[in-house]
Amino acid sequence: MSTRIYDCLKCIGEKIIENKDFLTDLDREIGDADHGVNMARGFQAVIEKVSQDEADIGAVLKKTGMTLLSTVGGASGPLYGTAYMEAAKVVAGKQEMSAEDFKLCLQAAIAGIQKRGKAEKGEKTMLDSLIPALEAYTDRIDAGAGMAEALDAACKAANEGIEFTKTIAATKGRASYLGERSIGHQDPGATSATLTLEVIRDFIKG
Ligand SMILES: Nc1ncnc2c1ncn2[C@@H]1O[C@H](COP(=O)(O)OP(=O)(O)OP(=O)(O)O)[C@@H](O)[C@H]1O
Ligand SMILES: [Mg+2]
Repeated sequence: MSTRIYDCLKCIGEKIIENKDFLTDLDREIGDADHGVNMARGFQAVIEKVSQDEADIGAVLKKTGMTLLSTVGGASGPLYGTAYMEAAKVVAGKQEMSAEDFKLCLQAAIAGIQKRGKAEKGEKTMLDSLIPALEAYTDRIDAGAGMAEALDAACKAANEGIEFTKTIAATKGRASYLGERSIGHQDPGATSATLTLEVIRDFIKG
């Protein structure tokens, strides 16, 4: 039984679906107005296809990744799909996720995104929220904080990452076609990544 992680994923899906128009509007400004639509379609499929009866949390994350990979499309489908599938490997066979496990999952997810998308921090992508979030989370955990406190720090860093994306030009993905004209707009992928972390934080805090 993997009820808790399934419930958390369902909350992530609901949040993404709730923010479908917001994410799509952000992508309209610097992309092709499909990020929210893409992600909402993917998470609707996740809610329907992934079950709380999966054998372990690794299986839940793996199925989530595979579902996102096959339903989201665009640039973000393969990237988010890979992120969840790489995180799945870290917790394969486990029934619970510790604070340390979450750090390793986020690390693996980011490594997967970078392997697939060949982007670094500072290119106006989801990585501008995810990498600072991992750094902040790791700092807090290594200083002895609990998961909720570390996730608070991660969310703060992820939101600062969104603000940072407003100040830079995109050099990866569709927004890079705009060059300097992408400055002033926040990145849709950094926004969906931050929403995801905020749901996880709120879920952990209960
Ligand atoms: N190489 C990359 N590495 C990391 N994130 C990326 C990369 N390319 C794009 N992204 C993220 O994907 C988001 C856009 O996702 P979206 O679902 O709109 O796909 P898309 O760019 O429209 O795809 P396509 O151009 O294939 O239609 C961006 O806001 C950015 O955060
Ligand atoms: Mg798009």
